[in-house]
Amino acid sequence: MAVKISISALFFFCLLLRSSATPRRHIRAHHPCKKMVFYFHDIIYNGKNSKNATAAIVGAPAWGNKTILATQNHFGNLVVFDDPITLDNNLHSTPVGRAQGFYIYDKKDVFTAWLGFSFVFNSTEHKGSINFAGADPLMNKTRDISVTGGTGDFFMARGVATLMTDSFEGEVYFRLRVDIKLYECW
Ligand SMILES: *[C@@H]1O[C@H](CO)[C@@H](O)[C@H](O)[C@H]1NC(C)=O
Ligand SMILES: *[C@@H]1O[C@H](CO)[C@@H](O)[C@H](O)[C@H]1NC(C)=O
Ligand SMILES: *[C@@H]1O[C@H](CO)[C@@H](O)[C@H](O)[C@H]1NC(C)=O
Ligand SMILES: *[C@@H]1O[C@H](CO)[C@@H](O)[C@H](O)[C@H]1NC(C)=O
Repeated sequence: MAVKISISALFFFCLLLRSSATPRRHIRAHHPCKKMVFYFHDIIYNGKNSKNATAAIVGAPAWGNKTILATQNHFGNLVVFDDPITLDNNLHSTPVGRAQGFYIYDKKDVFTAWLGFSFVFNSTEHKGSINFAGADPLMNKTRDISVTGGTGDFFMARGVATLMTDSFEGEVYFRLRVDIKLYECW
């Protein structure tokens, strides 16, 4: 018994040694290591705006169609987007990248979506991508989603993004403000 205990103690001691010897190249903290604010602009195709639409309904429930978001809080709609990202709230500012991905409306009795998308940057300021995923209860003033990773300038990024609907116009255009706080930076 005593031998067994000392062997396992030795094992854990070795584990401890190993982990303390592993170099920690990244910073992990309870305070953000990087903060950024962006806006992205979504113009949903509505049958008439194919020239400037940046999003398309690609899935609809049997009671709807792909031109108009469905009744019952759009439950069952799947929208794919390729939206410009800007540093301020002006749709016509020079974009710094594209927000690309999808949202699905996933609750019948209240506006709620699930988001999966990436910010793909191609500007002198930022190169690379940031990946986002999470629930978006649209009726909340602010909603937190996860920053699940990144590439390039945002290699291994992890954190939280706070979304705020900055503008919503005529069922077609909306603008989201995205406050990104990274808690892991390499
Ligand atoms: C998109 O284009 C249409 C037609 O040119 C225009 O009426 C509409 O305001 C534009 N939408 C946005 C959000 O700029
Ligand atoms: C789509 O559904 C809307 C609302 O029910 C309806 O007004 C519209 O005519 C439909 N469009 C097509 C192309 O079926
Ligand atoms: C990024 O921007 C540069 C310069 O404008 C352009 O040449 C290049 O094709 C762009 N790359 C992507 C992936 O959009
Ligand atoms: C949405 O708002 C409600 C009430 O303000 C709050 O209790 C809830 O935690 C919020 N949900 C999210 C996901 O932010």
